[in-house]
Amino acid sequence: MRLAITRPVSPAIGDCELTFVERQPIDAARATAQHDHYERALARHGCTVVRIAAAPELPDAVFVEDAAIVLDEIAVITRPGAESRQAETASVAAMLQNYRPLVHIQAPATIDGGDVLRLDRTLYVGRSQRTNEAALEQLQRLAPDYKVVAVYFRGCLHLKSAVTQIEKRTLLFNPDWIEAFKGFEMIAVDPTEPLAANALYLDGVIVLSASHTRTRRRLEQRGYRVVPVDVSELEKAEAGVTCCSLMVERPNR
Ligand code: GLY
Repeated sequence: MRLAITRPVSPAIGDCELTFVERQPIDAARATAQHDHYERALARHGCTVVRIAAAPELPDAVFVEDAAIVLDEIAVITRPGAESRQAETASVAAMLQNYRPLVHIQAPATIDGGDVLRLDRTLYVGRSQRTNEAALEQLQRLAPDYKVVAVYFRGCLHLKSAVTQIEKRTLLFNPDWIEAFKGFEMIAVDPTEPLAANALYLDGVIVLSASHTRTRRRLEQRGYRVVPVDVSELEKAEAGVTCCSLMVERPNR
């Protein structure tokens, strides 16, 4: 059983943090409708959606992925790299304590969950404007049963903007932003769709932003089943499909 933890869109989403994206008006009502649709897509594909209470005063709070790293044994509560986002973690921790023992990243370390790509027992951690060296060291100490590997990338906010998993040993990536991972099959996004590498891998399907039609075709031609979701309004907040949920695997009862 898989839980998808989500949080409603803040009416203040237009005041979100932006790093590589130009600010443009965001229609919060439209973003909310898209987020509802996203949640329904997750539910259709095997997730039990559990909502954290809204945090209207925190513009980026919908992007729950950044607040924690959920592993099999523990959940690591992050210390987000943008100061405005650090208040997001307490309510995420309050929810996750129902499912995992918690450990916490401490200052001076900063890390966003969007910079952590878990592949089996390895945590690939993007060194970004949000995630520093101290966080890698702390994460390795907090999760000694995993191997923490630093990854360097350029041109985008988070590691998972540049590369995500789409099958056990297959990754979708933007070769302009990150090198291919050794030992994995690497599928490149269509060059006209640089943001398409942010995909959410659920059993048997790949949830992908509906904006990325060419990459979708590329994946379908290789036999993948793609579930397009319109997250265009959330993309204006520099977000992708992984950012809006935290996946928690639960034993079947
Ligand atoms: N707006 C998403 C972020 O910058 O964290």
